[in-house]
Amino acid sequence: MAHGESVSAGHVSVLRREILAFAPQPTKRILDATLGLGGHAHALLSRHPEASLIAFDRDEEALAIASGALAPFAERTELRHRDFRDGLQDIPPRSLCYAIADLGVSSLQLDSQERGFSFRFEAPLDMRMDTRSGRSASDILNTASEKELERILREFGEEPKAKAIARSIVMERRSRSRWTTSAFASLVRRDARGRPGLDPATRAFQALRIATNSELSGLEVGLERLAHLLRPGGRLAVIAFHSLEDRIVKNVFRSLKKTGGFELLTPKPIVPQDDEKGFNARSRSAKLRVVSKRGDEGEGRPA
Ligand SMILES: C[S@@+](CC[C@H](N)C(=O)[O-])C[C@H]1O[C@@H](n2cnc3c(N)ncnc32)[C@H](O)[C@@H]1O
Repeated sequence: MAHGESVSAGHVSVLRREILAFAPQPTKRILDATLGLGGHAHALLSRHPEASLIAFDRDEEALAIASGALAPFAERTELRHRDFRDGLQDIPPRSLCYAIADLGVSSLQLDSQERGFSFRFEAPLDMRMDTRSGRSASDILNTASEKELERILREFGEEPKAKAIARSIVMERRSRSRWTTSAFASLVRRDARGRPGLDPATRAFQALRIATNSELSGLEVGLERLAHLLRPGGRLAVIAFHSLEDRIVKNVFRSLKKTGGFELLTPKPIVPQDDEKGFNARSRSAKLRVVSKRGDEGEGRPA
């Protein structure tokens, strides 16, 4: 595959060719739980002219861009501004051929100069994927207890200096009502140590983003629900970008296998090949795991 082929709407989808390769035969009903800019969805709809898509994203801006990118397929596409973890109730059981979830944050979010996901840009520390609801990262820094802040930094950022940073946040917020990316990054850099090539603020930003969007809570149940919506022979493919997420995916897939109703197609996670890592640095930490629902021959039989 040429590199240009991996780019849709000017954006590079991680593990795109692998996501295409795992699509079962036939692929008629697709669910994309995390549409983002629609790169995977575009590739699947182009490859499977008989397929229809239902797709979720919490981010309205992403949905607007994806809906433009997917305009050629508008008649077989339904987009929903919802968190997939609580938006699956009306999807009929045993209806999906292929469900995909490419978890975490998108390049649109990371590269936004206003939304506060990155310390590369000066902005209010918002970090919400869904800007219409929930507490911003700044609100969390100003309202969570010192213990809670320490837990967020330790659990979601594996930050060794979590205690010292939490203490500094509580001191700083006495005189600060709103946080910006630079204010939080400078505070973290005072207390934390980086590694060569890694800004000390990286872990704390990841931790705060995960907390702001409750990225891990309910993920297990959400993935189980997706798996149970598959028809026999249907597949669920999940891409995780950090070990906390990947551990949840691994455990859910193991439990599904234990039920006897699912087969694990990736005993070891699939990671991007060297060429992909070369042209898309963000793909480097990605891990793809896939399960297949066992069942009747001929009903969405695996390829
Ligand atoms: C890595 S990007 C997806 C990129 C997409 N696969 C592509 O090829 O363009 C992740 C997207 O999932 C969304 N997201 C993350 N968690 C979500 C959830 N629980 N429900 C719905 N959308 C979610 C984010 O807002 C973001 O736009």
